[in-house]
Amino acid sequence: MMHAVGARAVSRDLGGWRDDAGRRSAYRALADGIRLLVHDGRIPLGAALPGERELAGELNVSRTTVTTAYSVLREEGYLSSRQGSRSTVTVPVMSRDAGRVGARRRAAPGGDAVDLSYASMVAPVAEVQEAYSAALQSLPPFLDTHGMEPIGIAVLREAIAARYRARGLETSPDQIMVTSGAQHALRLLLGVLAAPGERVLVDHPTYPNALAAIRRVGARPIPVPVRPEGGVSRSWDLGGIRSAARQTAARMAYFIPDFHNPTGLCLDDAGRAELARIARDTRMTLVVDETMVDLWLDAPPPAPVATYARGQGESDVVTIGSVSKSHWGGLRIGWIRAEPELITRLVGSRSASDLGTPVMDQLAAVHLLGAGDAPIEDRRQVLRSQRAVLLDELSARLPDWVPTVGTGGMSLWLKMPASVSTALAATAPSHGVVLAAGPRFGVEGAFERYIRLPYARPADELRRAVAGVAAAYDALGVTVDPAEPTLVV
Ligand SMILES: Cc1ncc(COP(=O)(O)O)c(C=O)c1O
Repeated sequence: MMHAVGARAVSRDLGGWRDDAGRRSAYRALADGIRLLVHDGRIPLGAALPGERELAGELNVSRTTVTTAYSVLREEGYLSSRQGSRSTVTVPVMSRDAGRVGARRRAAPGGDAVDLSYASMVAPVAEVQEAYSAALQSLPPFLDTHGMEPIGIAVLREAIAARYRARGLETSPDQIMVTSGAQHALRLLLGVLAAPGERVLVDHPTYPNALAAIRRVGARPIPVPVRPEGGVSRSWDLGGIRSAARQTAARMAYFIPDFHNPTGLCLDDAGRAELARIARDTRMTLVVDETMVDLWLDAPPPAPVATYARGQGESDVVTIGSVSKSHWGGLRIGWIRAEPELITRLVGSRSASDLGTPVMDQLAAVHLLGAGDAPIEDRRQVLRSQRAVLLDELSARLPDWVPTVGTGGMSLWLKMPASVSTALAATAPSHGVVLAAGPRFGVEGAFERYIRLPYARPADELRRAVAGVAAAYDALGVTVDPAEPTLVV
């Protein structure tokens, strides 16, 4: 069945789409705003857009404005229309071929745009090449097998278990399942733990692809605020989590207590103990995403949350991890740490979608995990200095934007003086920078006043990017919101 998006939802997600003081024509601003919603997934491909008259009424613009905006999008290849039926969303063939950002790259007048919509670093080239050479040497014994191991090869499961033991969390290889990245790990867990209609508690803001995965299985994300105002280590509203778990009877929660994406905040020891207690008391499975755990910049993280579940029914806390941030996203290696009984259920359900993670990549991960902390410390060093550059540039060019500076991770979460995130992200590509708008990190259109800026790119790109962001912001001709809006949760 065709999914139709309502005029009210489009209007809400467009946020302050016209906040450019008439510098762009209304139809152009509307087309830019809708294109951004398609790019960042808030309007799904294949969805039918609202009828022109209905949207015009909701946005309080003339029908001609909507008709012209739809024609622009149609010409660009973002809409397809058949006689007598509503326009449905598609993406241009070029952009499909070139990947998500291809079309927006070309939008930059002076060459390639700086892409700040991803918080990911390039590979440490020598280490990754070495790891794959070593993997090739280790491959022959596997060639005598069929090579498909849905739980992962034993040597990698042992390397991952050893990593947890070194962090003080007793773990055996039969508690580990190798996956194709942490995103895949979450998707597998949702498939087993979250029935359609089920509620899943999430940090708010949170990692957008986690929200997408929760929605894809038909579950409902229930946001619980992460408030930087609470202090870097006490930003999680633990009382709020306990009452949300009770009120909604959620069976599952997904949290990122280690250098949370997008804020970089890290939950302290006492908070972790309480989180584990909440899971146990409310019989909720807590999925802890440790993807960022190695990227501590100011202070190492406390013990894993699962440590606090020890001896009290460990199945309350399931941990997912990955080498994507510590080493390289291109490996597509992640994992799940859970009780063997849950691992068995996950292995059973995995075969419906894939039969295992490639052996070569797993072997390369074994070598990277065995290479010690030095390459990761190099990464942290780079991130520290890039974070300093980004903060300096922001305080010089956008001094009234307020950053949350967590103790690790890869990005700053900034509060702007006005609620213009979607309009800013829509116009930024023509100033040479691609951004992810704040509402991508929330539900129900929250975070129009926020933007995430990653510091995963080199210093010269960050300088160019902030100049572009400042120019785009300037072009919007922002007038500051008169009243402090309350956080939408
Ligand atoms: C919090 C969080 N979880 C999961 C992922 C995805 O990780 P992977 O590349 O291992 O699938 C990311 C990537 O940005 C992330 O930030």
